[in-house]
Amino acid sequence: MKTTDKKNTTSVKRGVTKPKSNAAAGLTELFEESLKDLYWAEKALTKALPVMAKNATSEELIAAINNHLVETEEHVSRLEKVFELIGKKPTAKKCDAMEGLIEEGKGILEETEIGVVRDAGIIAASQKIEHYEIATYGTLRQFAETLGLEEAATLLEQTLDEEKGADKILTEVAVNAVNLEAAEAE
Ligand SMILES: [Fe+2]
Ligand SMILES: [Fe+2]
Repeated sequence: MKTTDKKNTTSVKRGVTKPKSNAAAGLTELFEESLKDLYWAEKALTKALPVMAKNATSEELIAAINNHLVETEEHVSRLEKVFELIGKKPTAKKCDAMEGLIEEGKGILEETEIGVVRDAGIIAASQKIEHYEIATYGTLRQFAETLGLEEAATLLEQTLDEEKGADKILTEVAVNAVNLEAAEAE
């Protein structure tokens, strides 16, 4: 028994991950790095949303996606303003999380026939994206406030509110127009 115990304790070694030599050194750097990720994510969404809209059939859903596409373009410009406020050139750095969420959305399109079921899948994928954005903007607004970047915090909050709004509209579309029909189509 003793030998097993020993084995267990060594296998659950909880090490502290060693940072890469160029890893973010402080909150300012973390803020900037996260902005670059988010800038990549928003730009990727301006390309992904039209594909979602093209594959949707519910008029409410198409309208919701197209409306959020216009907002998303504004999110890109707001992030450019935030970069400007901190005296940095807008730079996009691939966001692995958003890439994965967009890939998942594409997978749903491949797995479903066009119609109510695909619409339900598009809503599901889109809401995961909105929730990721809500989490990220919430964090970055807080970072901006902590760093005393009031104007940046306000810009990030404006986008945060629009992401929450988009999420709410998607829930309404799912409840009112899509999910019931998708279940009936079974
Ligand atoms: Fe956005
Ligand atoms: Fe969004």
